Amino acid sequence: MTNVPTIDLSNGVTMPVIGFGTWPIPDRKAEGMVTAAIETGYRLIDTAEMYRNEEGVGRGVRASGIDRSEIFVTTKLSQRWHGFDEAQQAFENSSRRLGLGPIDLFLIHWPNPEMDRYVDAWRGMIELLDAGKVRAIGVSNFKPAHLRRLIDETGVAPHVNQIELNPWVPRTKEREFHIENDIVTESWAPIGKGGGLLRDPVLEDLAAERERTPAQIVLRWHLQLGLLPIPKTSKRPRLAENLDVFGFTLTDDEMRRLSSIDSGRGVGSDDFGS
Ligand SMILES: NC(=O)c1ccc[n+]([C@@H]2O[C@H](COP(=O)([O-])OP(=O)(O)OC[C@H]3O[C@@H](n4cnc5c(N)ncnc54)[C@H](OP(=O)(O)O)[C@@H]3O)[C@@H](O)[C@H]2O)c1
Repeated sequence: MTNVPTIDLSNGVTMPVIGFGTWPIPDRKAEGMVTAAIETGYRLIDTAEMYRNEEGVGRGVRASGIDRSEIFVTTKLSQRWHGFDEAQQAFENSSRRLGLGPIDLFLIHWPNPEMDRYVDAWRGMIELLDAGKVRAIGVSNFKPAHLRRLIDETGVAPHVNQIELNPWVPRTKEREFHIENDIVTESWAPIGKGGGLLRDPVLEDLAAERERTPAQIVLRWHLQLGLLPIPKTSKRPRLAENLDVFGFTLTDDEMRRLSSIDSGRGVGSDDFGS
């Protein structure tokens, strides 16, 4: 079984460098898939209130037989909980559904800038952290301008920003901002949702040359850039395939080839004004 390495967040909490994404796995299937993922070696599980599968994820973690302290669980609060008190309630709700005690990483799912309540929600996240209810806090789909406001108005930077990121959507400016502010970048849609990215000729060539699958090559690209990918699959053999990414290293030239395939598609599906 793969032993997944970890990285340290800015508060010293350790987080596995690759995880299992659970959207859109329905609640009734989440338990089995999460248990299978943990048996395969995954130690980071990503869910959200919005996925409606936190209960199944919690059952899967408990059924795995692996000590709770060895599993890192992320969940996210939705738009309706943007506010200080609302964030406390969102935590209570997610915590009850998961049934796993303290949450390892709690994220604001989207900035929803049209509401302009994300700074209040962030103050609520800081309270949860200070109270020891969550071990780390972060955001998702935040642009540098949103992050700047959080830092300027609260003095506390998120530990993590989970954003859409892959070689077609490389987010170079966002990554630079994260590095400058000690924020870990977590990649959603890391393999491009299993779509055309995996059939990109550059990627197909690299995969053939290295006798690896396109998904493994892309996941390796994330890891070597210090990005944390959370690939989702509902197919058990792919659980192992997507985790078997620690036995090889891409050369600088291979990394460059892969980084060169961004062809301006990089708007991403989270694009909105700040
Ligand atoms: N924060 C956010 O706003 C946000 C948004 C979207 C997603 N997420 C999180 O990020 C996770 C991953 O993102 P995602 O699910 O959108 O995209 P993804 O992980 O890039 O791609 C998942 C798709 O790729 C397929 N796939 C998986 N492994 C494969 C392989 N080895 N070869 C070929 N195809 C493969 C899967 O199909 P099968 O299931 O059939 O294998 C699925 O259709 C989600 O599960 C969720 O936890 C977060």
